[in-house]
Formats: sequence, C-alpha cells, structure tokens
Amino acid sequence: MTNIASSSGTFDIGGDLPVVRLGYGTMQLPGEGVWGPPKDHDTAVAVLRRTVELGITFFDTADSYGPETAEQLLKDALHPYADDVVIATKSGLTRQGPGVWTPLGYPPYLRQQCELSLRRLGVDTIDLYQLHRIDEAYPLEDQVGEFKALQDEGKIRHIGLSEVTVDQIKAAREVADIATVQNLYNLGNRSAEDVLDYCEAEGIGFIPWFPLATGQLSKEDGPLADASRDHGATPSQLALAWLLRRSPVMLPIPGTSSLDHLESNTEAAGIELTDEEYEKLSSSVD
Ligand SMILES: NC(=O)c1ccc[n+]([C@@H]2O[C@H](COP(=O)([O-])OP(=O)(O)OC[C@H]3O[C@@H](n4cnc5c(N)ncnc54)[C@H](OP(=O)(O)O)[C@@H]3O)[C@@H](O)[C@H]2O)c1
Repeated sequence: MTNIASSSGTFDIGGDLPVVRLGYGTMQLPGEGVWGPPKDHDTAVAVLRRTVELGITFFDTADSYGPETAEQLLKDALHPYADDVVIATKSGLTRQGPGVWTPLGYPPYLRQQCELSLRRLGVDTIDLYQLHRIDEAYPLEDQVGEFKALQDEGKIRHIGLSEVTVDQIKAAREVADIATVQNLYNLGNRSAEDVLDYCEAEGIGFIPWFPLATGQLSKEDGPLADASRDHGATPSQLALAWLLRRSPVMLPIPGTSSLDHLESNTEAAGIELTDEEYEKLSSSVD
C-alpha cells in the first residue's frame, strides 16, 4: 500500500503550491490535552514517517500543539523534507495547561512565534502560515498585516486563517492574499457551509478541522454504521470520502496517533461514492 493518498487528487495552495488533498493533522501526537510529549516518541515518529510512504504531502501543525511538540516531531521524523512535503503551521493561541487555549494576536508575539517555528521546523520559509484565531483585542488588519510583512520578508510563503467568518476573510483579503481557511467542518457539523462555499468560489483552500468529529464519526456503532456496512468501508473512510467529494478545495487533515488508523483512513482517498451514496450520507447525519 504505497502512495494511496494521491488518489484524492491535488490542490494548488495559493495557485502555486501543490498538495495531495488528503493530508494529516498532527494534533493527536502530543500528550493528553495536546500538552507535553507523546505517550511514545518512537510511535509518533513512525506514524509521521508512514504518512509520507502513503503519499501524504500536506501536514497541519501549530506552535501550540504541545506546545512546540508537534513541530519538533515533524522535524525529528521528516527532516530533511522531501520536495513535495508542505507544512502548514499556525500561531495566535497560547497555552496555560492541558486543554487550555488562549488567543494572543499582539503582532510582535506573532512575529516571535514565526521565528521560533522556522527554527523548530528547520526551514527558511514556512509554506503556509495560519493565524490560529483572530484576537479581538487587536485590529484584524494589524494581525494579518504582520503576516503580510513576514511574507514580504520571505519568512512565509502563503497566509491562511482559522475559525473565521466570510466577512473576516473579506476584511483580511484587503490586507493580504489569503490562500486557505481552516474551520470546524465535518459530516455532522456543517455550520461553516457558507465559508466553504465562499472559499470554493474564490479558489481558497478549505481545511476542515475535526474531519472525524474527534472520532465520533469513526465509531463502528456510530452515525455511519449502516452506510459503512452498505459500502464495505469503515465509518472514518466514509466521513473522509464524503469531505473529499463535497468540494475540490477541501483539504481534510484527519489526526491519529495510530499506525493502523492512519493506514485505514488514508484508503479513503481511493473511495468513490456514487451520487446516491453521497446524497444519502449528506442527509443522514447533519
Ligand atoms: N484550526 C483549529 O482551531 C484546529 C482545531 C482542532 C484541530 N485542528 C487540526 O485538525 C486536525 C484534525 O483534528 P483532530 O485530530 O483533533 O480530530 P479528528 O481528525 O476529527 O479525529 C481524531 C480522533 O479520531 C480518532 N481516530 C482517527 N482515526 C480513527 C479510526 N480510523 N478509528 C477510530 N478512531 C479514529 C483519533 O484517535 P487515535 O489517535 O486513536 O486514532 C482521534 O481521537 C488536528 O490534528 C489539527 O491539525 C485545528
């Protein structure tokens, strides 16, 4: 089973940075509450190395995952990076303990975090740098403006946003080109439908976080149990195949700390849903 992810097709981030659409999210790698080192460092490294063998080229991470742990693991496992590996990291959320996330959009802090991510990842330019949250304590223009300055200096290639409304994307686009948007979206939670439609119309990559609803959609006895039996695929595979089918700008980044789950989830890239299956899934879970 090699290069299976490529069956999901490619998308050009910012019009010039190709990624295989089915990617991988690193948030499950650090310890409990996305805090501290992984349960087992070697397994985390093995999972990351297997992603590449499976043809995955797009990795989502953040300075706050651990914090620092997920970026460090990417470097431990994959550096020097293959030419087609694209790493998307983020700044804008600080950490005070397990499960605690506090926005901070003070522009000099965002710049500091970019510098530290460059160092941790071992790169000269971050492929895609995402503002994890817009911090209402600072003007949006100043936060996106700092990203634009970093881009002009060659420290980041493309700019992305996370958890934003269509109006916020439009406001950010007054300041800089926005290549991607990362919002909560999955078969069971489609509250960002308007954002997805806007992204599709504008050729902006849409990265759905919680593509498996943190595992709720993966359960054998969960909402996809019947469809899973009918198709002969796992619930996770169907949830991911549905996302890939939903829009050509969709870039799912399922997270897992398990080699078995990684291998099984990646097979979703090759699953073709019939129109009837797609419609049935669309109306069965929402
Ligand atoms: N922008 C944001 O604010 C934001 C917020 C949250 C997440 N994210 C990004 O989105 C990525 C995806 O989100 P996520 O990882 O939290 O959630 P997810 O992909 O929806 O689900 C991951 C959970 O599902 C389980 N799982 C995965 N495959 C499975 C399978 N085949 N069978 C059973 N269980 C399975 C995992 O457990 P195992 O480890 O046991 O497989 C894990 O608990 C993150 O890694 C992160 O990069 C971004």
